[in-house]
Amino acid sequence: MRIVTDAGEFQALTTQLNQEKNIIGFVPTMGALHEGHLSLVRAARAQTDVVIASVFVNPTQFGPNEDLNRYPRNLERDAELLAATGVDYLFAPRADEIYPAGFATYVSIEELSEVLEGASRPGHFRGVATVLTILFHLVNPHKVFMGQKDAQQTVVVKKLVQDLRFACEIIVVSTMREADGLAMSSRNQYLNPSERQAATVLFRALSRARELYSAGERNAENLRQAMIEIIAAEPEARLDYVAITDNQNLTTLSDLVGKTVLISMAVKIGKTRLIDNIILP
Ligand SMILES: Nc1ncnc2c1ncn2[C@@H]1O[C@H](COP(=O)(O)OP(=O)(O)OP(=O)(O)O)[C@@H](O)[C@H]1O
Ligand SMILES: [Mg+2]
Repeated sequence: MRIVTDAGEFQALTTQLNQEKNIIGFVPTMGALHEGHLSLVRAARAQTDVVIASVFVNPTQFGPNEDLNRYPRNLERDAELLAATGVDYLFAPRADEIYPAGFATYVSIEELSEVLEGASRPGHFRGVATVLTILFHLVNPHKVFMGQKDAQQTVVVKKLVQDLRFACEIIVVSTMREADGLAMSSRNQYLNPSERQAATVLFRALSRARELYSAGERNAENLRQAMIEIIAAEPEARLDYVAITDNQNLTTLSDLVGKTVLISMAVKIGKTRLIDNIILP
């Protein structure tokens, strides 16, 4: 695996890979890698000729009171994992390589960015869309691999690709979970042992919703209330939101009959904000 930090060198490399007619798979990450990230790499390896990953902790997607400075960073370990999982090229730029002095252009996706995560984290998806626009221009990927854990991100990025006519396909890979159901996330590293135990509450609440749905419940508010009760019963958890929406345009649903339903949530466990979701049926 070759590691590239310079954007110009990287673009020259990807231009050549494209000229050689390779099908390029791209896996953008913020590092602190776990099996969820590696499942994206494995999907890319299986579906494309050349696998490119990026590790970049993107400052523009963090709010002013978020965890940018303490975000876990371990490039050496990340590079070993990516190389062992079959990545061909790793782009790991410094922040000023992506955002040089005087940088002034941002991309925002209206409406879809303003609900759910976007309502709780203003500017988050603007940062995501901006960095992915830059990365997509640098890589020119055929397929981009993203995790279902970040459900709204997949919806927003598909819209970005459609509206700005990027010639890539977004491939969504299912959420990798720990044995007790907790969705893998780099931010799980922040949890102390009792918080780690409490963090199973997200999966417990989602599982309860799935159970009720399987038993025939089609009233969204009843599902939401059942989930809210489970979260309220966990002393270390503070609910940010539980939303039951359409999975394409993220509008709130009340009657779930005949719908494809996204149940998504954000919960704070101590200082750590975690998200998770399921799609029903
Ligand atoms: N558990 C998971 N299963 C599958 N894909 C995942 C999982 N967690 C993250 N991903 C995907 O990995 C890609 C990079 O995400 P990122 O580097 O932000 O990791 P993360 O674990 O979500 O970190 P954080 O906890 O800080 O949000 C995204 O497409 C994301 O959806
Ligand atoms: Mg993330």
